[in-house]
Amino acid sequence: MNPKSIPDPKSQRLRFKRRLVKWFRQHGRDLPWRQTRDPYQVLVSEIMLQQTQVIRVEGYWHRFLKRFPTLPDLAAARPSRVREAWAGLGYYRRAANLHALARTVVTDHDGELPQDPATLRALPGVGRYTAGAVASFAWEAAEPAVDTNVARVLRRAFHPKLPSGAAGEKLLWATAKALVPRRGPSAWATNQALMELGALICTARVARCGACPVQNACITGLAHPAGISRSNSTTRSRSRGKL
Ligand code: ADE
Repeated sequence: MNPKSIPDPKSQRLRFKRRLVKWFRQHGRDLPWRQTRDPYQVLVSEIMLQQTQVIRVEGYWHRFLKRFPTLPDLAAARPSRVREAWAGLGYYRRAANLHALARTVVTDHDGELPQDPATLRALPGVGRYTAGAVASFAWEAAEPAVDTNVARVLRRAFHPKLPSGAAGEKLLWATAKALVPRRGPSAWATNQALMELGALICTARVARCGACPVQNACITGLAHPAGISRSNSTTRSRSRGKL
């Protein structure tokens, strides 16, 4: 592939993934939930991270797991204690759903979180993203996990002209699926790396294309070598054109 052009989607994905994972292995943050494959611990991190930043989640995650070390411990807890452990994190509906989920898993799945994403999705508070993330991060399954950050990265890299809406979303999930390797540890790393790129380099406010490890495999990065910045709802380009 010519470094200045993007000929076909398959080579682009391959190049993008290789560079992304290499960068992640060197620069990815050493977050505590990346040290575990325990499905319950991974699930708690994903629910907490749904609407809260990493920096705030870290302390809560440790304290919550100290209070409720296993899923059956959580299931057996009184609702007031669960709410108390969540106090300050906000969006308490998440805590109530997590508690209901733990009780359902004890009743219907012998206390073991199901591995199958479709079964996970049937549990309270678990959407398509969370099911994919838990399957990938706990069992290293080759499942895509597209949250807002990952959607932004994929859109900028592969589909910068994609209209918003259901059809666009479907294509982003298809791209994520095609990107995630079959081999478990690589699938885990690819999904974590996509999130990391969205958090550190390719953020909503600014795409730091000049510092991006996948710039040469990204349609936006090739068109905007100096990056793009966004203020309020308008997109401003620091080089040529618009996103
Ligand atoms: N946001 C959602 N899941 C995450 C993860 N595993 N690491 C960092 N940020 C995340």
